[in-house]
Amino acid sequence: MFFQKKLSIKGNRGKKFSINLLEKNGFFILENCFSIEDVKKLSDIRKLLIDESKKQKKIISQLTGYELGNLNIEKSFIHEQIWDLMMKSQIIKKTFQSFNVNKIHEIRSFGGNINFPNSIPQAFHRDSSLEKKYLLIFISLEKISSRNGSQEVISEYKLNGKNFIDMLITRFNYGSNLVDMNPGDILFRYSSTWHRGTRNNSEYPRPIPLFSIDLNKEKSKKIQKTIKFKKKISFKGNYAPQGIFGKIYVFLACKFNRPFHIIIYFSKLFKSQ
Ligand SMILES: [Fe+2]
Repeated sequence: MFFQKKLSIKGNRGKKFSINLLEKNGFFILENCFSIEDVKKLSDIRKLLIDESKKQKKIISQLTGYELGNLNIEKSFIHEQIWDLMMKSQIIKKTFQSFNVNKIHEIRSFGGNINFPNSIPQAFHRDSSLEKKYLLIFISLEKISSRNGSQEVISEYKLNGKNFIDMLITRFNYGSNLVDMNPGDILFRYSSTWHRGTRNNSEYPRPIPLFSIDLNKEKSKKIQKTIKFKKKISFKGNYAPQGIFGKIYVFLACKFNRPFHIIIYFSKLFKSQ
């Protein structure tokens, strides 16, 4: 199928952060930036998230995103733990500082997603408009590949325009990038970069925590005075509607995945989000 063309992202990763590559493509992977010991701690956090998702299965399996794409991970103590691990790495610390983030209070938001086995791929979308873009920072707790639902991204510099039709033309001409990651790799991606969650073909849920930061210097300096991290891990529905509309949406998306996405794309051809 012509839309299956995938690109290699070898030139868009490295052990040093590159703002130029992030700007050019809309995403960049910082590789291997934690110590072996800390990668083990990240793996323990993965286990915690998976165990908790199993305990809460009855409730969370009702949420939109359990089958379709993924569920969101809410802010909790794991973010504090990951922040502490990140600040032990000079490369990560300097990268955050280059965006005027020195303290955890200067982080815009904390979250993540968890992709369950046999999930349905999402339609390509943006997390925000170009005008309101911010930076997302995903921390890989395990090896992530097409097997367990890596993110699929469309390179910015190939895009000519900001609407769905431009994204479709770019995807048709140049394909998309599957972002494979090793444990301890960090994905930097703009919220405005076109992307989607793909199917998890493995037998385990695939969680990935996330931090976001403001690109506007004034905003990032606005320190939140009360910053509380929940003691309990919890999950919530994703971008698709909840309730009865969510159920219809998920049913259609699961039953007619590709035609359903095509309908979504055509209904938004001249929209940018
Ligand atoms: Fe998204």
